[in-house]
Amino acid sequence: MQTPWEYRYAHRMQKMGSSVIRELLKLTEQPDIISFAGGLPAPEVFPVKEFREACNYVLDHFGPQALQYSTTEGYKPLREMIARHTARYSVEVTSDNILITSGSQQALDFIGRLFLNRGDYIVVESPTYLGALQAWNAYGAQYIPVRVDEDGMIMDELEAALRIGPKFIYVLPNFQNPSGSTLSLERRHQLIELADRYGVPIVEDDPYGQLRYEGDHIHSIAALDSEYRGPNGGHYSGNVIYLSTFSKLLAPGLRLAWVIAPPQVIRKLVMAKQAADLHTASFNQYVAYEVGKGGFLDEHVKVIRATYKERRDVMFEMMDEMFPREVTWSKPKGGMFLWGILPEGMDAADVLKRAVEKKVAFVPGGAFHPCGGGENTMRINFSYSSPENIREGITRLGTALKESIKETV
Ligand SMILES: Cc1ncc(COP(=O)(O)O)c(C=O)c1O
Repeated sequence: MQTPWEYRYAHRMQKMGSSVIRELLKLTEQPDIISFAGGLPAPEVFPVKEFREACNYVLDHFGPQALQYSTTEGYKPLREMIARHTARYSVEVTSDNILITSGSQQALDFIGRLFLNRGDYIVVESPTYLGALQAWNAYGAQYIPVRVDEDGMIMDELEAALRIGPKFIYVLPNFQNPSGSTLSLERRHQLIELADRYGVPIVEDDPYGQLRYEGDHIHSIAALDSEYRGPNGGHYSGNVIYLSTFSKLLAPGLRLAWVIAPPQVIRKLVMAKQAADLHTASFNQYVAYEVGKGGFLDEHVKVIRATYKERRDVMFEMMDEMFPREVTWSKPKGGMFLWGILPEGMDAADVLKRAVEKKVAFVPGGAFHPCGGGENTMRINFSYSSPENIREGITRLGTALKESIKETV
């Protein structure tokens, strides 16, 4: 039946398809599917006990305030805690540089709202985070894809892309979603210099930086940009907008993230946030602060790293054993995903159909390519499933891949 709304949708809705991943996540709700599809943290690492205690503490000590409307910028002690944490990683920031958002996803939407006119270009990695494309499609963005290899964005392609005159560069520096690759230190320096030379700012989206299982931490692009520009009287005012989130460090259901940006940009973001939802849930901010304030996050992240490293290693081991030799995959040093590559000409969406029949799921990589291509790629999550399920799921996936390859090659 037609509703009176049918012909009234705004033009922007034409570009707002439902995410392939969201649709796929519905499949994973079947209890017997082993899902490597979603980007979900392991539920076993959620600090439920600490949350219970923090909720009680907040209600006992700050009940009415924590349940009241609050400032758009976010709970000051939480912003100060984030500023202290960020300073440890060599970016000098004050709470004036920080806005708390309802997830980084909201920050991506606000960045679109602030900077994009219909038809504007954005330089993005190819493949890139699907949620960013979804957010910016609504503002009529166009994308200039720059391919990534195991060291991140390929710099020669970036320089060519910058000549087209994009609004900004969107980059996922650590254990990229979806490919798992990390931008090398050398390329981070090159990126900063190129961005400066062409006068194009950078949006650095970093949910996974803390989830490193081997090798040394590499400074964020914001930190290196800050160093490149020299001291600036205490707060960051460089070329980078930096996003990170509590989704992977505490729990995604909190919907709690932060943006670090020059204070002038924060003021504009605050206006966007006022219009969108007034402020991020006060109670959640109080609780996250209580959970995090005594150094708990440093200890907790060690538990997450150990859990995910074990899962990643089991997955590597099983893939070596079960995957056909025609398939290759990335070896990420952290994060939650690895990236499989099928022989040229194969379509991972066809493999997925077969895999779902065998009760295992992943995400075909085509969706992460902003301008098409990548049909022969696949994103595989290793954080969510238990080691036993990884063993069983990779065995099933290996069989699905072998059958598909036999049929097509
Ligand atoms: C690269 C990237 N950016 C942003 C997000 C969204 O995070 P949040 O839960 O903070 O909205 C994700 C979530 O998976 C992500 O992978």
